[in-house]
Order: sequence, then structure tokens, then C-alpha cells
Amino acid sequence: MLLVGLGAVSTTTIAGVIAVRKGLAQPIGSLTQMGTIRLGKRSDGRSPKIKDFVDLASLDDIVFGGWDIFEEDTYAAARTAGVLEPGLLDQIRPEMEAIKPMAAVFDQRYVKRLSGPNVKKGKNKKDLAEQVIADIRNFKAANNCTRLVMVWCGSTEVFMKEGPVHQSLAALEQGLERSDDAIPSSMVYAYAALKEGIPFANAAPNLTADVPAMLELAAQTKAPVAGNDMKTGQTLIKTVIAPGLKARLLGVRGWYSTNILGNRDGEVLDDPESFKTKEESKKSALDYIFQPHLYPDLYKDLSHVVRINYYPPRGDNKEGWDNIDLVGWLGYPMQLKINFLCRDSILAAPIVLDSALFMDLAKRAGMFGIQEWLSFYFKAPMHAKEVYPEHDLFIQLMKLKNTLRYMQGEELITHLGLEYYD
Ligand SMILES: NC(=O)c1ccc[n+]([C@@H]2O[C@H](COP(=O)([O-])OP(=O)(O)OC[C@H]3O[C@@H](n4cnc5c(N)ncnc54)[C@H](O)[C@@H]3O)[C@@H](O)[C@H]2O)c1
Repeated sequence: MLLVGLGAVSTTTIAGVIAVRKGLAQPIGSLTQMGTIRLGKRSDGRSPKIKDFVDLASLDDIVFGGWDIFEEDTYAAARTAGVLEPGLLDQIRPEMEAIKPMAAVFDQRYVKRLSGPNVKKGKNKKDLAEQVIADIRNFKAANNCTRLVMVWCGSTEVFMKEGPVHQSLAALEQGLERSDDAIPSSMVYAYAALKEGIPFANAAPNLTADVPAMLELAAQTKAPVAGNDMKTGQTLIKTVIAPGLKARLLGVRGWYSTNILGNRDGEVLDDPESFKTKEESKKSALDYIFQPHLYPDLYKDLSHVVRINYYPPRGDNKEGWDNIDLVGWLGYPMQLKINFLCRDSILAAPIVLDSALFMDLAKRAGMFGIQEWLSFYFKAPMHAKEVYPEHDLFIQLMKLKNTLRYMQGEELITHLGLEYYD
């Protein structure tokens, strides 16, 4: 499992897998490790664990590698991130110390608040992509891996829009040669992974694999892609609550979300250009769930505000507040307040693991290009151009489980259930 960026999310994922492997902790929050799937009728009593139903890689077989602009090994990086207790990290210290970052492809123009020493030099972005490909091949050989997946867990890059260089693989490759500014570092990694036919998932909101050129490459090399931006904290709760309100046709006039966090991610997001990328990603969910064009009386002109405030004392322990202004029967107003004291990387780690394992499964199942069935994990899920993205967490879960049933030749579950009353 190749992780780009060995910061809070990545080191919490790696430490978690090693700790679970040693029996030191449980993989709570991971569908692949703890989830079950119902098969057949409700009366059949068949609900195996997902990991026993589909052929997922076992945690024992995973080897981790990655890149970062800092030289710290993953033990030191996890201590810096401050997510996990030293008591736990010390029990897995040798394994964590053995994972050292490869030199990164990095350009500060795309992440303004960071700079670090462990950075590759190259004559152009094509050359840098080739260096990443060489890293991938060396890692694979050195660790005797049969398969690889790559997940971008690097910092959120500045906001970018799709441009001409992203429209075809030929344009992208020419752009790499001339180091086009519209190709951020994350795209160099994605290009390298997809060129090698390796599944690529984007845990952050930056524009990376979600452009026609990358999808063309993914189709050529039969590589699955998924993203964008892991759905944790506030957006997770939003996509749980909003479908409930909508189901009961309760109107919403406004949804104000604010949160404070003090980790390095928060510091990067303190830059307005990186924040813009995150904001776009966080704001998209409500519009799609509420469908204001179908329900103008309930959701038209909904005021949706998202704020993120960098507040160092909290570290990775984010606190989010949501105020929702509701409207009920005959237009009577109500309010709902949510105060979520969460832990960012504790919520992100299990879903980085799950998405990597499912991407590897998809590759072996011959699936390539956008893996919409993994929308469950993302704030701004990638989707085919002709359809809107599905944000409702419960529809996403149903889609994911039905995809697994489909892969295994099991009957899909529609929840019709009339047969129980014949
Ligand atoms: N924690 C969550 O709940 C969550 C949820 C969704 C998305 N994310 C996103 O995941 C990403 C990682 O979050 P985090 O909390 O681990 O942040 P972090 O700052 O702790 O880690 C990011 C790491 O990426 C490295 N990096 C940046 N650019 C790089 C490059 N070009 N090549 C290699 N390394 C690079 C940084 O040096 C840093 O160590 C962020 O973009 C964040 O927005 C996090």
C-alpha cells in the first residue's frame, strides 16, 4: 500500500494495521474488517463477514511505503502528528521506524504553507513521474509484492479547475514534458500509478485523477480510480442527517457548519487557496441530497455556510458545530444543533484502509476507471459525467454491498420483501 504523504492520516492508518495485526487493538470503523453482508432472504440467516465473503487482501499481507517532503520515519511522523498515544506507538516502534519516506514530488506553489527537504529534482514533470515509477517498481521488487494500490493522503493542494491540458492523455503527457503549471504534484503521482496499472484513490479534495486524461490512462491500463476527499467528521454526519430530514419532507432554510482543528491539515487549510478546494468539496453534498429543483418549497435558496478555523491547541481533535434551521408543518421554524467532538485521523484511517482493500479487489475483478460503488467513502464522489453523484450515506452503502453481491454472483437486495407476506 503506497501512501503519498506520511502525515496524520497515513501514519494512523499504518500504525492501526500493525497494531491490529499484533492483537493490540480492534479495527473499529472499518467495514472490510468488521462489517457483515446479508445474503438472500432475511429469513435465510446468512450474514457472513465481508472479509469472508469477498477475497480481500489480509492485513497480514500488507506492506506499507510512501513519500513525504519530510524525512521522518513513520514512528517519528506519528509522534509529530500526535494522534495516537506514545504507549501504543512504542509497542510497534520497530515496524514504524522501518517505514521511511521516499523523496517527494513537491512544489510549494500548490501547497503554500509547507516546505521540506525530502524533495526530488528533475528536468521536468515527466522526469519526476518517471522517478516515481522507478520508486514504485523498486518498492514492489524489494518487498516482493504481487499487487499495489496508491492513496493520495498528502496535503490539500490549491483550488484548480479542469483545463485544456487535462482533456486527453496526449495533452497531459505533453504538459508533463513542458512542466505545465496546471499539473500539480498530486497529478504526477496519479499519472505514475495509473501508468503502471495501479489503482489510485484520492483521500483529499484536490483535482487529481478526476480529469479525462487520467480516466483515459486508467482505461488503457485497466486501473480503478476513486475519490475525492475522505468523508469523515462533519460531512459524514451531514450525509446521515440530511437524508433523514429529506425523507420526512422537513424543509431546511439554512445549514451553518463551523469547526476548529489544529493539526497540520488545519494549518494548510488556513491558506485561502487550499481552503477553497476543501470548501467546494464540503459544500457539494447538501445540494445533491436535498434536490432543490424537485423540492423548491423546502430547499430553494438554502443558505449553506462552511467554515474551518485553524486553532492549534486542539491538534487532531476537531470540534464541529452545525446549526440547522428547519421548517415544519405550516412553515413553523425549528432548530437542530450538532456538536461533534471527533478525531480526524481516527475517523479517516479505517476508510483509507477500506478503500485501498476494495480498490485492490476491484482491480482483480477486472473493474477499472471510476469506482462509483466506493462513493460511500468520499465527500465529493467521482461519478460518470451523465449522472449526478450520490451523497446519501445509506444509498451509498446499499450500492457498495450490492456491488459485492454482484461480484460474487449473489442475488441483489432490493428491500422489496413482498415474498414474506405471500
Ligand atoms: N483527517 C481527515 O479526517 C481527513 C478527511 C478527509 C480528507 N483529509 C485530507 O487528507 C490529507 C491528509 O490529511 P492529514 O491530516 O494526514 O494531513 P497532514 O498534514 O498530517 O499530512 C499530509 C502530509 O502530506 C505531505 N505532503 C504534502 N504534499 C506532498 C507531496 N507532494 N508529496 C508527498 N508528501 C506530501 C506533508 O508533508 C504531510 O506530511 C489532507 O489533504 C486532508 O485534507 C483528511
